[in-house]
Amino acid sequence: GRPLGVAVLGMGTVGTEVVRVLRDHADDLRSRVGAPLVLRGVAVRDLSKDRGLPAELLTTDAEALLARDDVDLVVEVMGGIDPARKLIGDALAAGKSVVTANKALLADYTGELAAAAESSRADLYFEAAVAGAIPVVRPLIQSLSGDRVNKVVGIVNGTTNFILSAMDETGAAYDDVLAEATDLGYAEADPTADVEGYDAAAKAAILASLAFHTRVTAADVYREGISKITAEDLETASAVGCTVKLLAICERVPGEPSAAEGGKDRVSVRVYPALIPRKHPLASVNGAFNAVVVEADNAGRLMFYGQGAGGAPTASAVLGDLVMAARNKFYGGRAPGESVYAELPIAPIGDTPTRYHV
Ligand code: NDP
Ligand code: HSE
Repeated sequence: GRPLGVAVLGMGTVGTEVVRVLRDHADDLRSRVGAPLVLRGVAVRDLSKDRGLPAELLTTDAEALLARDDVDLVVEVMGGIDPARKLIGDALAAGKSVVTANKALLADYTGELAAAAESSRADLYFEAAVAGAIPVVRPLIQSLSGDRVNKVVGIVNGTTNFILSAMDETGAAYDDVLAEATDLGYAEADPTADVEGYDAAAKAAILASLAFHTRVTAADVYREGISKITAEDLETASAVGCTVKLLAICERVPGEPSAAEGGKDRVSVRVYPALIPRKHPLASVNGAFNAVVVEADNAGRLMFYGQGAGGAPTASAVLGDLVMAARNKFYGGRAPGESVYAELPIAPIGDTPTRYHV
């Protein structure tokens, strides 16, 4: 088949691994897609860094790279809202399919981006935006689309889980472990997003939107981080047979017929450190691992577990999406679009009382 051109925006922790797989596993990818995936260019900020790539593949002009006629597919792993929002919005509107790991952007702008994709029948894929390597976006969008999800509870931030696990297991100091998580490429460019729960809240908004077929944004999510958790808190938890985990909780709240909203179900979405009994499956999720438990009417309880952060695990999810988007270009398929969110009667609420335990 005709080669499909790929542009990558960002070559940091995740982008470096995406580029490595694109180059090292080109033959595998070609046979899975039915056409070669050809790297057309990589946009970065700093051209002076040695990235082991031919200079002609690197650019600081992301807009010009995406405007090239021979770019069919875009991988956005630069992070942040601007300029990523405009770059991928314009690429989608121009009919180029986009794979992104940018949960901060998706939490607030999925509606806008999905509309741009719809206008040109391009694809928007974002498996890597929630829980790194773990397939959880696609199961919610596809496998569970015939079921009724009632609850999603997960550990969805690797950095904070790495910190809490180390504090719990070895009594390590918070600041030292945070520095280690940053060195290992788990933390966000500004780790405040991790430790204050903003990253988990963005992921919770994405999960809730998919699970409940509605539009939850970061502002709808009740949020507390882990920066106030002390070694003493973990000791106290341990003394009562528990540990502490930062949980993202998305829950269907049954409507009451007498209530103002006329009996419609609502969605409560919250992120906070919670006490977990040691025998609970989430208690044994340690380090940068994540896990997401989904409860649905007919499926019952499902648990998804794996590496939630880091370059290679995240690249795995990105490449899976890229193969899907490329196959769609080649065979004429499409990612599920607006129909995922077609059922909009559930109003998000942010005022459910917190319960600091599971
Ligand atoms: P990094 O900070 O390591 O890398 C960001 C890259 O984007 C760098 O190469 C940087 O260029 C480039 N970049 C940033 N801004 C611009 C710009 N305006 N123009 C051109 N290039 C730019 O981030 P990560 O790889 O860790 O994360 C990337 C995305 O993936 C984020 O959205 C993050 O939330 C998400 N993510 C990260 C995970 C992880 O474990 N790290 C896991 C899941 C998702 P330069 O190198 O020149 O500075
Ligand atoms: N900073 C994020 C985390 C990266 O620690 O989970 C993965 O999304």
